[in-house]
Amino acid sequence: MCGIFGYCNYMIEKSREEILETLTEGLSRLEYRGYDSTGVAVDGDVDGSTLIIKKPGKVAQLKEEIQSTLNFKENNPEFISHAAIAHTRWATHGEPSVRNSHPQRSDINNEFVVVHNGIITNYRELKTLLLKKGAVFESDTDTECIAKLFKLFYDTNLANGIELDFNALTKEVLSELDGSYGLLCRSSHYPGEVIATRKGSPLLIGVKSEKKLKVDFVDVEFTEENEQESELQKLQKMSKHVAQDEEKVYFASLVNNNSAGNLRYSQSRAFLSEDGIPIPIEFFISSDASSVIKHTKKVLFLEDNDVAHIYDGELHIHRFKPKQDGEKVTRPIQTLELELAQIMKGDYNHFMQKEISEQPESTLNTMRGRLDFVNKTVKLGGLTNWLPTIRRARRLLMIACGTSYHSCLATRQIFEELSEIPVSIELASDFLDRKAPVFRDDVCIFVSQSGETADSMLALKHCLERGALTVGIVNTVGSSISRTTHCGVHINAGPEIGVASTKAYTSQYIALVMLALSLSEDRLSCLKKRQTIISDLQHIPEQIKAVLNLETQIKKICEKLQNEKSMLLLGRGYQYASALEGALKIKEISYMHSEGILAGELKHGVLALVDEDLPIIALGTRDALFPKVVSSIEQVIARKGKPIVICNKDDEYWITKKSNQPEIELIEVPHTSDCLQGLLNIIPLQLISYWLAVNKGYDVDFPRNLAKSVTVE
Ligand code: F6R
Repeated sequence: MCGIFGYCNYMIEKSREEILETLTEGLSRLEYRGYDSTGVAVDGDVDGSTLIIKKPGKVAQLKEEIQSTLNFKENNPEFISHAAIAHTRWATHGEPSVRNSHPQRSDINNEFVVVHNGIITNYRELKTLLLKKGAVFESDTDTECIAKLFKLFYDTNLANGIELDFNALTKEVLSELDGSYGLLCRSSHYPGEVIATRKGSPLLIGVKSEKKLKVDFVDVEFTEENEQESELQKLQKMSKHVAQDEEKVYFASLVNNNSAGNLRYSQSRAFLSEDGIPIPIEFFISSDASSVIKHTKKVLFLEDNDVAHIYDGELHIHRFKPKQDGEKVTRPIQTLELELAQIMKGDYNHFMQKEISEQPESTLNTMRGRLDFVNKTVKLGGLTNWLPTIRRARRLLMIACGTSYHSCLATRQIFEELSEIPVSIELASDFLDRKAPVFRDDVCIFVSQSGETADSMLALKHCLERGALTVGIVNTVGSSISRTTHCGVHINAGPEIGVASTKAYTSQYIALVMLALSLSEDRLSCLKKRQTIISDLQHIPEQIKAVLNLETQIKKICEKLQNEKSMLLLGRGYQYASALEGALKIKEISYMHSEGILAGELKHGVLALVDEDLPIIALGTRDALFPKVVSSIEQVIARKGKPIVICNKDDEYWITKKSNQPEIELIEVPHTSDCLQGLLNIIPLQLISYWLAVNKGYDVDFPRNLAKSVTVE
């Protein structure tokens, strides 16, 4: 969790106020990743000094703190070269407070300051060691150890007459860290320089320059013979221009074991310059592209164990760990397709509201170019070459967390029906806890909006190690899961900023249905079913629009539910996933206890809760299980329950029921194929959670204790 942001300018004059504005603007776009506390570190008034400003709460509070601490009218120095770092936090170690906010520092002189996203698992051992060395700790965070390690290694090397460059020093520090990190560090010993490195947490670098970028690539190989030479000599002797490719950064990681068996790390470097001459340039380092897009669309994504060193307008990428077989050795500068408007709220009060309303378009975008409604075919470009292997799978494992898990549950039945391959669905954390068996002929499908969820990412590594084919169903292009899986489908829902996932759910659902359709394209026995599903998919966007029009009715229902403490959601078959997902939405946004119940389980215990007071939402749309669902709802009514029933429009059974028992509330939605009905039934539940929260005055986009992208285990 947490969002980190860094900014470096070179040969471009920027005032302190402008730099701080860039930082806080960047942070505000990352707030969905955590909003407990925030902080920034910039150049201080004395040359080489670092000024830190931190504040519990959201970025708005940090901005106020900056304004009240710094008087820009009287003191607003200009910097032609500057390196700044910033952070918005979702607390893992230590309560939200100034002392636990980032940047964390090495000492009272702020010699090394770091911002960190992730968890250092061996921080207790490190802290014990650092305490013995005389370090004085100021916070409860694991991150503080990193800052203090920087200083310890810097001082120790200096005492031995060794002046390491920032990159070499960073590698010494990283070799002590266990756990995960996206990390930025600046230091008064390396003015104008910044280090950005990652392992398990996302990090990308946006590059902005008026000049055309050229990349000069130096590839260095260590061998036994040059072992004794200084790094500089090796660079000079061994460097060769492997490629001069505009706007692509290449590097190779060539590693040799030295005689002591210790690994030597690669030292390949990439420069951004114009024919070797430094150019005015800005770098924006961030956990997420959404905070960079305002400045530049040119970004490169760092991989685990990359150490990016920015100084003098140059970007150098080094490897900290040896190259693995098959590991990519290029870091191309990519052009983001994201538009700023997509990450703005527009006329909506909340991102969640905007994202719920966007579903007619977002679902269409998921299908665009992939479904041929005339010939009733599906083409998923990212999977074309892999489909034969997937069809031969012994099992399909669908692995995800939270809402993404519910999209797997919602589509499992259609996968089994169309593909005839056994499907198991797994919560990533539980899958890891059990160290579940995975075989080479399994196909593991990872579903994730962010593509960065730590549990899913670790489960993915587990499956890769066991030789299974892995497929990513991901929203965020360039995310860890989309890059690490063998193949996959981007759901193309567009950026989802609201912490509660809405449009990603419906797009994941459709992407999974399309995958199930692709797997069965040769099966004549399902031809009719496939054709019906494809026809019905075409109507989903307009049907979602029709359900969104029920908002006024739903608002009224929410007024009645406002003061309730608890709620049950009943569903069966395909609608069990809708019940679970609806309950998750209600609890995370409105903080009302709600539980999704498999209707068939009602009589096995839950019925004891039912009386005239307990609010119940029942999913009573038509499919093969309709008689059974009706029977469960009747059991509720028999115990004086007054359910709100989500049913199909003009369904005679429910219309008659309501005319006899007016206290039953009906929310009527259009009818579609059984396996797609959940796409429509979830919309009223999303709206109910939204309006319950708004009516209670809660911060819909930033529910307490949650963050959008859960990059810690
Ligand atoms: C709930 C929600 C979470 C996420 C879960 C997985 O509204 O958003 O339950 O679905 O944290 O996140 P992703 O899909 O990014 O892997």
